[in-house]
Amino acid sequence: MAKITNVWARQILDSRSIPTVECMLQLDTGHIVTASAPSGASTGTYEALELRDNDPKVYHGKSVYKAVQSVNQIIGPALVQLQIDPSKQDVVDKKIIELDGTKNKTKLGANSTLAVSVATTKAGAIVNNMSLHRWVSALAKSRGIDAKPHIPTPMFNMINGGLHGAGNLDFQEFFVIPASSSQYSESLRAGVEIYQEIGKNLSRRGAIHSVGDEGGYAPNLFTNADALEILVEAIRLSNYQVGRDVFLGLDVAATTFYKDGSYTIRDKSAPMNEELMIEYYKELNDNYHLALLEDPLYEDSWQGWTQMTSKLGGQLIVVGDDLLVTHPKRVEKAIAEKACNALLAKPNQIGTVTETIDVIRMAVDAKWKVIVSHRSGETNDAFIADFAVGVGADLVKFGAPARGERVAKYNRLSAIELELAQG
Ligand code: PGA
Ligand code: ZN
Repeated sequence: MAKITNVWARQILDSRSIPTVECMLQLDTGHIVTASAPSGASTGTYEALELRDNDPKVYHGKSVYKAVQSVNQIIGPALVQLQIDPSKQDVVDKKIIELDGTKNKTKLGANSTLAVSVATTKAGAIVNNMSLHRWVSALAKSRGIDAKPHIPTPMFNMINGGLHGAGNLDFQEFFVIPASSSQYSESLRAGVEIYQEIGKNLSRRGAIHSVGDEGGYAPNLFTNADALEILVEAIRLSNYQVGRDVFLGLDVAATTFYKDGSYTIRDKSAPMNEELMIEYYKELNDNYHLALLEDPLYEDSWQGWTQMTSKLGGQLIVVGDDLLVTHPKRVEKAIAEKACNALLAKPNQIGTVTETIDVIRMAVDAKWKVIVSHRSGETNDAFIADFAVGVGADLVKFGAPARGERVAKYNRLSAIELELAQG
């Protein structure tokens, strides 16, 4: 039995140049593992707290020295004192939750708790002599998820709008999603070929095409629907067929353009109420055969979500991100009210690996789709690639197939694909 002998943290930078927490965890075998926390920009109101120092003179208030201290002074010493084997992920996470003692990780910060929790999972894999995704799979199994090893379908975020783009689009993410029957290596190739074709297309149109926070292009366009047109054109020019080889999807992130009961987007001259917004999605779906819509409505509009899912849920995957925030209470309510039919699982919204697995279990039991997701602020830590495979996720959302912190995850899936093929 191995033991955790040392746990410490430091402040590093994420892909947006914003400080985040990196945790190191050492075993009595001498092994050291490292894990870091990602960070969102369009965060749901009900997410666990990301602890920041809020001193405007230091990193514009974004430094995380307090969260680093949570690890160095509270979580680390407690785990070392327990002399605990990192295989006991549930005991470690329970201890972290107990040390925090709040509903939303407001004392220690979910950025510190998650970094330690993920480091524990990585150490557990070493101790059990397993690749990380197999170890996650074992943990998932012990929590009631019996996942078959497969590579989830990637959702490539080709165009970045909303809070992630420098351009003028209201919708946050425009996805190209390869058919779920495709092999991952084929899906990745399609994603990359289409991504590059979109770049050429935008250049031809003279639309500015710098990339946004998740590596997708961030153009200035007349409407959000124009972005879908560009995807369709690029797919055709890449010799793929929409509706057969690849599908389209959107993370609307509607809370970001919702105000006082109405939704304002550049496609329409006047703000829309919920009913009109749902009508508009129906129209978009008729024109583009969308496969997936994430956060189509405001995060607290429960009745609207139920209406939306009853109208369109038979045809497309309706994903709750800001609606659910990977929280068991909100997922429970959404299942009861049939508010959506898919979970976006973001470990840092809840703050530990065990709690994330337990929320995924609820979604699996409800026969929902499960999507494991990165955040717009990421590090090169590829943990979620292994995590997604281990919990048997249907889909993954890692951004565009560009920029190091996104590509790290896609490349890790390629390695796992090879490993699975070798048996
Ligand atoms: P975030 O965006 O990481 O900025 O919250 C991702 C998403 O909304 O899915
Ligand atoms: Zn989202």
